[in-house]
Amino acid sequence: MKKMEMLYEGKAKRVYATDDPTLLIVDYKDDATAFNGEKKGTIVGKGVINNQMSNRLMQRLERAGVPTHFVQELSERETLVKRVRIVPLEVIVRNISAGSFAKRYGVEEGIVFDAPTIEFSYKNDDLGDPLINSTHVAALHLATAEELDTIRRMALRVNEVLRAFWSSCGITLVDFKLEFGRLDDGTIILADEISPDTCRLWDSVTREKLDKDRFRRDLGGVEDAYAEVMRRLREHDA
Ligand code: TMP
Ligand code: ASP
Repeated sequence: MKKMEMLYEGKAKRVYATDDPTLLIVDYKDDATAFNGEKKGTIVGKGVINNQMSNRLMQRLERAGVPTHFVQELSERETLVKRVRIVPLEVIVRNISAGSFAKRYGVEEGIVFDAPTIEFSYKNDDLGDPLINSTHVAALHLATAEELDTIRRMALRVNEVLRAFWSSCGITLVDFKLEFGRLDDGTIILADEISPDTCRLWDSVTREKLDKDRFRRDLGGVEDAYAEVMRRLREHDA
């Protein structure tokens, strides 16, 4: 597989064309941002961890019947993925109150919900990724009602699979963000990444934060937290 021109550089990844028009190469960086790029930093070794972690979790999801963009890990930081047209939505599933949910509704973090919540943000940096509902998604032609149903169903299935797996690692899956894409034939598949950048992961016993909130909130021990999550994943993902 030949790595060709860079198509896109995001906050945490670069995306390259390949000699196969249906495949792309994703290259994970150590760059970290928060608050829509306002806060910038480096998390040493993050690119390697996020690449390997996301790939293992996506393979687990595939085995559980969730189609993903994963094709092949090429190196520590590079992965071959299916080319998709990204649906411009951030799909957020929550099991426990935290982050913007706690802030928006004026509740403390750590309330365990009776059932998972799901919400959508319009993926648009200029607008600061505003919350959006399903009728707005339809009005803006971001996705059809049928696609949104599929996305909702897949996101909740991802939650079931990942919650159970992280639990076996002694980690509580608090919430996470997913992105989906369309193949040329319109099939919806899971894309982007699943990592401590995109999930809230708490130690099940100590409640210690083991994710990007350590960076967002200047809690220190960021690298150690990412390494600890990766260590536990390796131990339980034989
Ligand atoms: P929030 O509580 O700030 O809305 O975040 C919910 C989840 O989404 C959390 O696990 C972190 C993740 N997330 C991203 O992956 N990218 C983002 O840009 C934001 C704001 C959150
Ligand atoms: N990655 C996002 C940004 O820079 C936000 C976040 O993860 O908190 O803005």
